[in-house]
Amino acid sequence: MPVQRFRRRDVLNLAAGGLALAIGADGLSRSQPRRQRGRLDLDLVAAETPISIPGAPARALTYNGLLPGPLLEMEPGDTVEIQLHNRLNQPTNLHYHGLHLPPTGQADNVFLSVAPGATQTYNFRLPEQHPAGIFYYHPHHHGTVADQVFGGLGGALIVRGALDRIPEVAGAREQVLFLKDLPSEQGGDGMGLMLGREGSILTVNGRVQPELTAQAGELLRLRIINGSNARFWRLALEGHSFHLIATDGGALAAPVQVEELLLVPGERADVLVSVNAEGGQFRLVNRPYARARGGMGMGMGMGMGMPMGMGMGFAQNAGTGPTTTIATLHTSGSQKPQTLPRRLLPVVQLPEPVKQRRFVLNHGMAPGMGMAFLINGRPYDHHRIDTRVQLGDTEEWELVNTGVMDHPFHVHVNPMQVISRNGRAEPIAAWRDVVLVRAGETVRVRIRFDDFPGRTVYHCHILDHEELGMMGTLLIEA
Ligand code: C2O
Ligand code: CU
Ligand code: CU
Repeated sequence: MPVQRFRRRDVLNLAAGGLALAIGADGLSRSQPRRQRGRLDLDLVAAETPISIPGAPARALTYNGLLPGPLLEMEPGDTVEIQLHNRLNQPTNLHYHGLHLPPTGQADNVFLSVAPGATQTYNFRLPEQHPAGIFYYHPHHHGTVADQVFGGLGGALIVRGALDRIPEVAGAREQVLFLKDLPSEQGGDGMGLMLGREGSILTVNGRVQPELTAQAGELLRLRIINGSNARFWRLALEGHSFHLIATDGGALAAPVQVEELLLVPGERADVLVSVNAEGGQFRLVNRPYARARGGMGMGMGMGMGMPMGMGMGFAQNAGTGPTTTIATLHTSGSQKPQTLPRRLLPVVQLPEPVKQRRFVLNHGMAPGMGMAFLINGRPYDHHRIDTRVQLGDTEEWELVNTGVMDHPFHVHVNPMQVISRNGRAEPIAAWRDVVLVRAGETVRVRIRFDDFPGRTVYHCHILDHEELGMMGTLLIEA
């Protein structure tokens, strides 16, 4: 697979409309696997550039002219330096979604504001103990984040480590799938800000219905990122099961077989697929999902064609829209069937919490804002500290959704473990940084504030909801 090395000069030429980049058959462009061990240096140019995606508008917001942005790879202990050049007409910044980094300085600091025309240096060292996994970089400037992500910005980031060295995992064919919906060039995508904008053009690595290839009998490792503004993706692969090996930021103790994967915005899944030994063609489909309960009413400003909850069948949140083919897996050649790993990596359970808190998610009227999305009755205010915690503490948070829409709850810097949903113990121990809290649901999570003090945020990852107030500030005190 062709690999593109990003040298400063090339990228700036590209942004000036000069160079065409080599893009892999899968639609992804990669940062150079490090020639110089221990360092990743990169320029990212955020700009509106031409794209060619059938059905989508002719221009989009991109990093280095690419949609998705270049795939970044690093290892624990690496030093990373990124120059972010803002060639947009509004402020932006960068967030390293899911990485365990300081939320301060030039690291994962979402309070930085990079003005149009300005360049910001990001500089950090990935901790030696950082888990391997697939992560997600995207803009995070409050007020412009939803427009910029919906407009196209975002990319995948891989940390290589222990999970990748498990022999069966190492032997699998790896394929990153970056999922993003884009507006149709004809407009009329329907859903408004209140529900969260969805586009009708479904892309995988910036392509419409790409072909993926693998050998019959092979283990295929799909590393999937939901890079959408609001869309939930509900995936199934014809003729195959998924064997989940890692959630957001970390490995499971052993693979878990599932027939369907639900990924909320910002969420990732790492799955193995035992490619059918007979070979053939198999559709990867996206099934409809209803993010709102039927009783919500048009007064909320939703467009036509919104998938509504279906009475008692709502438990599955099956939507009424179409099932869409988003990619096709073709086999070419075959090999002796590979076996699945039995064991992965231990998931160390977080200890008993020293403190409990409750976060109530809903929408309502807010002074001076009109209809807003609220956490504990309040819309986001960056001047306020909503939650103060002590570095090193483990806390248990009760996330209560009293509204009529699902909200994927995301916390920066430290991952969470889900303890229960509506009082039912969570069956599988896993690390997550985005946790779906369905309408009417109560989810208990644990989180430990390790290593890094500073101010950061938690929010709904339907980015339109975040912009409309569903975010709070978290201060981790040393
Ligand atoms: Cu992926 Cu605060 O975001
Ligand atoms: Cu994040
Ligand atoms: Cu929400």
